Amino acid sequence: MSSTTSIHGMWSSRLAFILAATGSAVGLGNVWRFPYTAGEYGGGAFVLVYLACVAAIGLPIMMAEVMIGRRGRQSPINTMRALARDEGVSPLWQLLGWMGILAGFLILSFYSVIAGWTLAYVVRAGAGTFSGADAAAAEALFSALVADPERLLAWHTIFMVMTVLVVARGVASGLERAVRWLMPALFVLLALMVFYAAQAGDFAAGLEYMFYPDFAELGAHPGEAVLSAMGQAFFSLSLGMGAIMIYGSYLNSRASIGQNAIIIAGMDTLVALLAGMAIFPIVLANGLEPGSGPGLIFQTLPIAFGQMPGGALFGTVFFVLLVFAAWTSAISLLEPMVAWLVENRGFSRPRAAALGGVVVWLLGIACLLSLNVWSDITVFGKGFLDLFDYVTANVLLPLGGVFIAIFAGWIMRRASSEDELGLRGSSLAFRAWWVLVRFVAPACVVLVFLHAIGLI
Ligand code: PHE
Repeated sequence: MSSTTSIHGMWSSRLAFILAATGSAVGLGNVWRFPYTAGEYGGGAFVLVYLACVAAIGLPIMMAEVMIGRRGRQSPINTMRALARDEGVSPLWQLLGWMGILAGFLILSFYSVIAGWTLAYVVRAGAGTFSGADAAAAEALFSALVADPERLLAWHTIFMVMTVLVVARGVASGLERAVRWLMPALFVLLALMVFYAAQAGDFAAGLEYMFYPDFAELGAHPGEAVLSAMGQAFFSLSLGMGAIMIYGSYLNSRASIGQNAIIIAGMDTLVALLAGMAIFPIVLANGLEPGSGPGLIFQTLPIAFGQMPGGALFGTVFFVLLVFAAWTSAISLLEPMVAWLVENRGFSRPRAAALGGVVVWLLGIACLLSLNVWSDITVFGKGFLDLFDYVTANVLLPLGGVFIAIFAGWIMRRASSEDELGLRGSSLAFRAWWVLVRFVAPACVVLVFLHAIGLI
């Protein structure tokens, strides 16, 4: 039934897939979103719940998503339609693909604005703007940036153009080469940052903050905190919207999905933890507020770069790598809708990428204006940027994840899953996955939802 290759091209090797999927997973979610979200909910307990979500929900759903993608070999919408037909269930399953496209639009629109901040910080770091900066100076620099819609628009536009250019050329050709050196470099630099934080920051306090779980810190609404930890797991692992599904569709049929998923989720988690260990010691040593919100790393890292020897160079390299990490994630956010336009509308890749890019760019303008001129336009008390971030990570991605788990665990024939995962049905690995994907992952997501809205 499923073909062995995709019309959009294939990864040249298993390593290429791992690199690309890790490139999708590792991004602003790890370095920007994880620390500030953990900070909002008091650190340790949030981190613990987050890790549990990665293991019990994220990992099995990642395997399911790669598996579905590889079996369908098309854009998520068409993959779902084809697999639903094969299994003799309703074509409405393709709505899962559509929901993913919507999530992709919304995420990329604010993601690009934050990636724009990162671009702006490359220039600032390079120009030596941070030299000698203290907490107040770093804060002032950040506020000046977000208050300036024209500058935000310029950077957002540059980032969207970068993203469209790569997607237009085809994911495999440009991406593989970039990620091959980027990932190791980002690792090394983050490790160096942790080393610096251990010297100059309050390392003991930082580690305690991150790893000592104090459940009282989850606040008056622990359901809300747990929902955010789960949402962060989906966001960081790129799950629930078809990005990992489409990357799976370019994977050759022999590669082991389970092993690859463990490697990808493991690296993603490691990068998030390293980022936290680099940031919290500096936050605490400088009397900053861990719960200060989305500006956290942009108000913290400049203090470190401004004080360390060679900080201008180091800071520039750091933000350049973060731009790359964001870039490789952004590409995976645009790819599902582009693949669909190519498949169903007969668009050329460049045209499809440009069209998707323009829609995202427009939505992004609403996000960046919500930081300044439109700051009093709110929906549920949130401006567009915060709203898109909240709704996608905490609602759309987990919802997509539940349906992926249900499809893999309940709709697809067990024999198809065994075959696609390359596992014997009697093996421990398969049975563990089967229990997680059928029962544990969907039940956890639903319980977390119900708890967050106060029903249980
Ligand atoms: N995982 C990416 C990050 O952590 C963001 C992302 C979410 C990418 C969903 C694709 C799909 O930055």
